Amino acid sequence: MTSEIVKRYSAPVPRYTSYPTAPHFSDAVGHKEYAAWLTALTERARLSLYLHIPFCDAMCWYCGCSTKAVRRYEPVANYLQTLMAEIAGVSSRVPRTHRVTHIHWGGGSPNVLSSKHISDLAEGMRTHFNVGDDAEFAIEVDPRGLSGDRIAAFAQASVTRVSIGVQDFDPKVQAAINRLQSFETTKRVVEMFREQGIAAINIDLVYGLPHQTRDSVTRTIKQVLALEPNRIATFGYAHLPSRLKHQRVIDQSTLPDVVERFAQSNRLVDMLAAAGYVRIGLDHFARADDPLSTGPVRRNFQGYTSDAADALIGLGASAIGRLPEGYAQNSVPVADYERRINEHGLATARGVALTPDDRMRAFVIERLMCDLLLPATELRRRYGQSAALILEEAAALIEADQDRLVERDGDGFRITPRGRPFVRTIAACFDTYLGAEQARHSLGV
Ligand SMILES: C[S@@+](CC[C@H](N)C(=O)[O-])C[C@H]1O[C@@H](n2cnc3c(N)ncnc32)[C@H](O)[C@@H]1O
Repeated sequence: MTSEIVKRYSAPVPRYTSYPTAPHFSDAVGHKEYAAWLTALTERARLSLYLHIPFCDAMCWYCGCSTKAVRRYEPVANYLQTLMAEIAGVSSRVPRTHRVTHIHWGGGSPNVLSSKHISDLAEGMRTHFNVGDDAEFAIEVDPRGLSGDRIAAFAQASVTRVSIGVQDFDPKVQAAINRLQSFETTKRVVEMFREQGIAAINIDLVYGLPHQTRDSVTRTIKQVLALEPNRIATFGYAHLPSRLKHQRVIDQSTLPDVVERFAQSNRLVDMLAAAGYVRIGLDHFARADDPLSTGPVRRNFQGYTSDAADALIGLGASAIGRLPEGYAQNSVPVADYERRINEHGLATARGVALTPDDRMRAFVIERLMCDLLLPATELRRRYGQSAALILEEAAALIEADQDRLVERDGDGFRITPRGRPFVRTIAACFDTYLGAEQARHSLGV
């Protein structure tokens, strides 16, 4: 593929972990609207819980997540109390007959919690929500300094899957992102989780980091494959220094350009395919026997998931929930989150109520991001006559496509292998909100 094509389709676009995307949330949705949405959940609703822990031991300079470094434990302990109050407040509003099928603790680094607090939080969750025996329980961890007693506490809490942040094993890259993490440390942590019976291991990698090259990516992948993870996520580095102050420490001149990023991503894809991993959507890879490879795939704020719940409940500062009526996000600054929980029992600061057009476009964008397919028949079945609008837009896109990024499939289309790296850019053609704020997003490749 020519570098011209790569440059043409690499304009900044959203990652489409939701539609409408978070920049389009407003304060029209607050705690009152959210409370009504929770109460309106159906009696048999299957729920997914996302808990955000916005703390780390130290800040990594590439980090795009909502977190801050803490030296003392006190702010973490205070936050945990508030989180427990929110769990109680939210659970009192949802129908008692719900069932939780999926739990995710993200961050930040949930392993900043002490082992006692890991147990307390897991127990608090199970006391207030009806967590099914077969619920998946996933956590994100920073393996550096992760102690055996915390791993044991996660196992005791019935965690089933762990995502371990690696990013890159090259010392020069690690120095440039302030994240020194040896292969040996990572390997030991993987082994300890397995010894404790937490068998589903995900590894997170990033390409496009400072000083990264195709060779460093190759070396990292070889080491990662030696750990035999069940899933590997490969994120393109999102460099947004105007929004994220700590990223300004990264010397822009050391970042690979868009063509090199593209080559690194291709190297990852080729090596993981050769090792037998199934590529999921844009940037995830899973073993052939993993639920992501064998079953339907959804897209949510954590990326790709097998979670088929009817609603996602976000708990903690900055957490986003998706209810049948729309999206609701908690306040991002921890102090404001805590104030809101103390005042209202809920901390919703913004969100968006979905219009019929939003729902239809959200379906189209999610299917493109997951299946690389715009399924015309299913679209008509769900949205009736309104589907004609999308199918007209799809026809115009097929017509305008000079680069064989898509091919017709009935009245819809399928993204070709050549178009796959540009799936976000293709999905963006169906996003009616895109416009002036485009520069807030990261590169499309
Ligand atoms: C929400 S973070 C939590 C991980 C955990 N704190 C750790 O230390 O590994 C999950 C993953 O997001 C990815 N990530 C974080 N910042 C990113 C950025 N600026 N661009 C792309 N991916 C990023 C990294 O792969 C990271 O492991």
